[in-house]
Amino acid sequence: MYFLELGGEDDAFAVCEAESAAADVRPIAPGLAVANAVVPERVRGLAYTHRVSALLGRTDADLASAKVLLEAAPIDREGTVAVRATDVHGSTGVATDRVERELGQILVDRGFAVDLEDPDHVLRAAFSSGRLERDERDGLLSSADGEDPTRGEQVSVCALGWLTAASVRDFGSRAPTDKPFFQPGSMDPLLARSVANVAGARLGATVLDPMCGTGGVLVEAGLVGADVVGTDAQEKMAVGTRRNLEHFLDRDDPSPTGVSRGSWHVGRGDATRLPFADDAVDGVVFDAPYGRQSKVDTHRLEDLVSGALAEARRVASRAVVVADRSWAAEAREVGWELEAAFERRVHRSLTRYVLVLE
Ligand SMILES: C[S@@+](CC[C@H](N)C(=O)[O-])C[C@H]1O[C@@H](n2cnc3c(N)ncnc32)[C@H](O)[C@@H]1O
Repeated sequence: MYFLELGGEDDAFAVCEAESAAADVRPIAPGLAVANAVVPERVRGLAYTHRVSALLGRTDADLASAKVLLEAAPIDREGTVAVRATDVHGSTGVATDRVERELGQILVDRGFAVDLEDPDHVLRAAFSSGRLERDERDGLLSSADGEDPTRGEQVSVCALGWLTAASVRDFGSRAPTDKPFFQPGSMDPLLARSVANVAGARLGATVLDPMCGTGGVLVEAGLVGADVVGTDAQEKMAVGTRRNLEHFLDRDDPSPTGVSRGSWHVGRGDATRLPFADDAVDGVVFDAPYGRQSKVDTHRLEDLVSGALAEARRVASRAVVVADRSWAAEAREVGWELEAAFERRVHRSLTRYVLVLE
């Protein structure tokens, strides 16, 4: 069993993304989840999971309980160690430096040498307390900050485990404004990576963005190894996406996530009439134009999104749609089932809706 340290503000969404790299992911406290199995190279490509550790055990979120747990835990490792502690969202008030010292001392007493610079093994100690709520999606528990304090179960958790894999935090180097081709409305790389992962981006899979804009999603999908295909109604977007994909994917050096970068194809095309055979790709992701951007095409926005959803259904068995409103009814109308829906507040006047469709 493993525990996951989640990032971002929406644990349910982080869990949904983590399911692309781990089996049977279940939230256990705000910012923490457990899973039965993980694929370390896919963990490296996650946006909203920071670290995955092989679970030694879990207890209440206080140092005394953590010490008892570590003293009793079977340890089948050799080599140097370091302890790193975190207090998720500052929710427990535990003194992390003291945790690191005192848990480190237990490991020393058990015969380990400490190496803080370059340890063979890192023991993660994650403390979190808060409420877990019923997830309407499938009855799992997930954390949230709802209004009614009686709704959720109050939990207090310390998870201890050996660090197994960490995600590569290089998203800052791909800020939309720093890319060779930039247009307003480009998706930020964290959201782009997460929706690409949810759509199934990975080595050997093919992911299509039929309204690719500047190619934000395609860059992130390609960096985790997927072969990517993009279309956009505007020639300047297709040309710009090619520039961005050339810049980020046509390289000989190893990709930061350790997998080889995917191949790419981009052309001008209409998302409501895609030039692809049925079931040609594994997953579709698109970021629907927002009301004010929809003038670029002759379609009404409703017809454009419905048409794109129908075409996505024809060419793939899974899709993720990002938009400034929920297009769930339109998705169901063309035969998709709604696996999950999330609302992500970007800023005060912009909420992004993420639909996961199967
Ligand atoms: C919100 S933007 C996508 C932004 C993109 N995710 C990014 O990171 O840059 C929507 C894109 O849909 C394109 N578009 C509008 N109507 C289209 C259609 N019928 N077929 C294909 N693309 C279309 C627009 O040209 C625009 O680039």
